[in-house]
Amino acid sequence: MKILVATEKPFARVAVEQIREIVTGSGHEFALLENYKSQGELLSAVKDVNALIVRSDLVTPEVVASAPELKIVVRAGAGYDNLDLPSLTARGIVAMNTPGQNANAVAELVFAMLLYHARGGFAGKTGIELRGRTLGIHAFGNVGRNVAQISRGFGMEVYAYDPFVSPDVITAAGAKVCSNVRELYSLCRCVSIHLPANSETIRSIGFDLMMSMPPDSILVNTARKEVINEDELLRVFEDRKDFFYIADLEPECKTVLEERFGDRILFTAKKMGAQTEEANINAGLAAARQIVDYFKTGNEKFRLNK
Ligand code: 3PG
Repeated sequence: MKILVATEKPFARVAVEQIREIVTGSGHEFALLENYKSQGELLSAVKDVNALIVRSDLVTPEVVASAPELKIVVRAGAGYDNLDLPSLTARGIVAMNTPGQNANAVAELVFAMLLYHARGGFAGKTGIELRGRTLGIHAFGNVGRNVAQISRGFGMEVYAYDPFVSPDVITAAGAKVCSNVRELYSLCRCVSIHLPANSETIRSIGFDLMMSMPPDSILVNTARKEVINEDELLRVFEDRKDFFYIADLEPECKTVLEERFGDRILFTAKKMGAQTEEANINAGLAAARQIVDYFKTGNEKFRLNK
């Protein structure tokens, strides 16, 4: 079988080499398309592949149509909003993700960005400390749990809201349970978002929630830009002078924010949450192993489109 790693944002070299070993060591053919500049390059690279490993790369209906031999796609990561599941399912192609494999990397970035902001970008001004401050974790999946664990070391007062997670799990992780999302935002000066992007969550964080946050609030978004209602985000920036927005990946309204509220924002130019050697190795190797195992035994653990 031919297994293609197609990553516009490449994995660390060490991860690529280990993926190659897993693929070729199991008797499969390894192919690599990194750092590609157009969707056309992906379309031609998939034409004879049986399996595909991607990161945030868009697996559109066009990609699926260009890959007549494709049997399985694994998103090396957690969020799979980049996979067009209907067209994969229609062709009987298995789609999987590798949940949890890059969660610590994303959680560490939350604190990297938060500390950079709290210390005024290390530009000489007096900053603030995290100890004793309220931190709200919006969604308590793998990343949220890692954020909770790290926040204990900082001595923060941690709250979490997740209707899909048992309150016992949240309490056992040292966080206090909020019974609704409004409670979380109104209690916490800093809120860290860990929602997936789906029809329930897209544009779900809007004016009322952001306005309900306490004075000098900081919203940290290392999840997906789509979960924020950006029109309402702009209104919040207009209405309150004490609101800060930190995000891993620039929002659509970045230019307006930069022009008008440049001192209250912090964005990464490229999504950096999972960009560590460890996360690349964890997620990339998990993806390769899941494909090899699927071809060998038919194991469909982590299948997204049953
Ligand atoms: C994820 O959903 O796993 C993260 O957002 C990482 O995305 P990336 O692999 O494109 O960096």
